[in-house]
Amino acid sequence: MFLNIFPLQNNTFSRLYLRQNLIVLDEVTSTNDYLKQLVSNIKPLPEATAIMANRQVRGRGQRGNVWIDEPHATLALSLVLYPPELSVRHAFNLNMFVCLAIHNWILELLPQVQIKWPNDIYVGDKKLGGVLIENQLSGSLIRSTVIGIGINIKQQSFPVTIRDKATSLYLERPSIAKQSLEHYALSLVSTIMAYYEHIDLRDTSHLLDRYNRTLFRRGIPASFEIGEATVVGTIQGVESNGKLNIIIDNQECLFDLKEISFKL
Ligand code: BTN
Repeated sequence: MFLNIFPLQNNTFSRLYLRQNLIVLDEVTSTNDYLKQLVSNIKPLPEATAIMANRQVRGRGQRGNVWIDEPHATLALSLVLYPPELSVRHAFNLNMFVCLAIHNWILELLPQVQIKWPNDIYVGDKKLGGVLIENQLSGSLIRSTVIGIGINIKQQSFPVTIRDKATSLYLERPSIAKQSLEHYALSLVSTIMAYYEHIDLRDTSHLLDRYNRTLFRRGIPASFEIGEATVVGTIQGVESNGKLNIIIDNQECLFDLKEISFKL
């Protein structure tokens, strides 16, 4: 069914098949871009359709960053959901639930995994993965959401420029990185869907406490960049609206996604 609809991009793939709504591509520009095109071209594209690629040539990260993956080593996965009646005001709830599902999925393999606000996955001081969520709106409602997930699975080393900042399942514990990328994709999608089926994304207050308990650098004085300035502060937690609460000079300050970054 899907074979006819891919004059969409100039992708090359050696195999393409569907199993449990997982489409596996050999090469793609970005799984998020590819899935967004499917969502707009096939109506209705079944919910939970997922795309996985063995290689992305133009993977994208948050804040317009480039996401570089190592072919056959990084899990590059995108998943579409149609959350019912979800206002754009609750967009952070999507972040929170996806990060918690990924965190929970990795926890069984690596107990020290944490979530770095707003949507990175960390082990110690190193990044294991990240999430890029792109919502398609209808007025003030989120009509569909494409959830892009990149997780370093089998890398045995990283380029010098990111060696001190990145890690993989293999580097943490070689024995947990032995399965195929497709196996990790299917298992992660099923964990995410188990969460999705049991929560109302309009009210995720019961998840906030758990999100905060897993938060990277919570309660530890650390440096942050705010515009041009570097400040030292201590993360208290994340508020229900997704803002990061940090104590700076004995004052509680709230920051939105683009207002602050960690100085790592
Ligand atoms: C980040 O850390 O900034 C987010 C990285 C998200 C990368 C994933 S890989 C699969 C999906 N396709 C993309 O182009 N990006 C996301």
